[in-house]
Amino acid sequence: MNNLQINNLTKTYKNGVRALHNVNLEIENGIFGLLGPNGAGKSSLMRTLVGLQDADSGEIFFNGENILKNPMIIKRQSGFLPQDFGVYPKVSTYNLLDHLAILKGVTDKQMRRQQVLNLLDQVNLLSHKDKEVATFSGGMRQRFGVAQALLSNPKMIILDEPTAGLDPEEKHRFYGMIAELGADRIVILSTHLVEDIRNLCSQMSVMDKGEIVAFGKPSHFIGQLDGKLFQKDIPKDQVEFYKSNHHVISTQFVEGLPHIKIISNNPITGFTPIFPTLEDAYFSLLTKKEF
Ligand SMILES: Nc1ncnc2c1ncn2[C@@H]1O[C@H](COP(=O)(O)OP(=O)(O)O)[C@@H](O)[C@H]1O
Ligand SMILES: [Mg+2]
Repeated sequence: MNNLQINNLTKTYKNGVRALHNVNLEIENGIFGLLGPNGAGKSSLMRTLVGLQDADSGEIFFNGENILKNPMIIKRQSGFLPQDFGVYPKVSTYNLLDHLAILKGVTDKQMRRQQVLNLLDQVNLLSHKDKEVATFSGGMRQRFGVAQALLSNPKMIILDEPTAGLDPEEKHRFYGMIAELGADRIVILSTHLVEDIRNLCSQMSVMDKGEIVAFGKPSHFIGQLDGKLFQKDIPKDQVEFYKSNHHVISTQFVEGLPHIKIISNNPITGFTPIFPTLEDAYFSLLTKKEF
């Protein structure tokens, strides 16, 4: 079992933006979802975890080793799919992965060939190995990104918003490929989509404004809203009225009419009780502090 422990991690950028504020997390094997809106600090946290940027204070231990003090340890034992991979060089998929394998320290030629072919097979790109990654669809690029993150069989892989920009079909193929990766390693996946978490993650955190606002199993978050969630169709001009009198977690339009969901410990006349979803739980956490 691998263990990642993050203690009181804090980072403020030079421009004064506080990206990480007292982050504490403990993560073990399996797929861990980091869910949060844009700007929450997900990418900042992930870059710090793989040794690409430093923190102002706090500690990170991977299997007991202090990786902020010794980033080489984690660089060797982890793989990373950044949110923006940048430009792909004009070489074949096979050659690019082979090159990245060399950078990762897989020096034995025979071993490297075997590993590159196995990984391309694992992410269903073997039949495309002679094409350039630049010509791939979004889904294929992300699968290539996972293959390079898996080079050297790392104990931890970090995938930063891997499903962004994928169409529904590509996304489902991608889920199928990711689902097995957490069996014997830590997989941390960031996303702003509740759907990603629902499909893949056994443990999750919600991150907002640089802070971890919740940690646990998705079912635990949903359970916390049991019997407390109510909905109502309302006239458009009453949205503000309800917002100032109730803990409104979302206002959605259903067939053009505003429809609000609120959290309340007691039933309220005119509102219908409903079963909570993970999305409701997420919205309730994001709106918690403001009410
Ligand atoms: N290199 C940087 N310099 C200054 N501010 C940054 C830098 N990277 C990110 N930020 C800011 O830090 C906050 C968190 O960003 P980020 O970690 O990218 O969040 P997320 O990945 O959740 O969208 C944002 O306000 C962002 O603008
Ligand atoms: Mg990001």
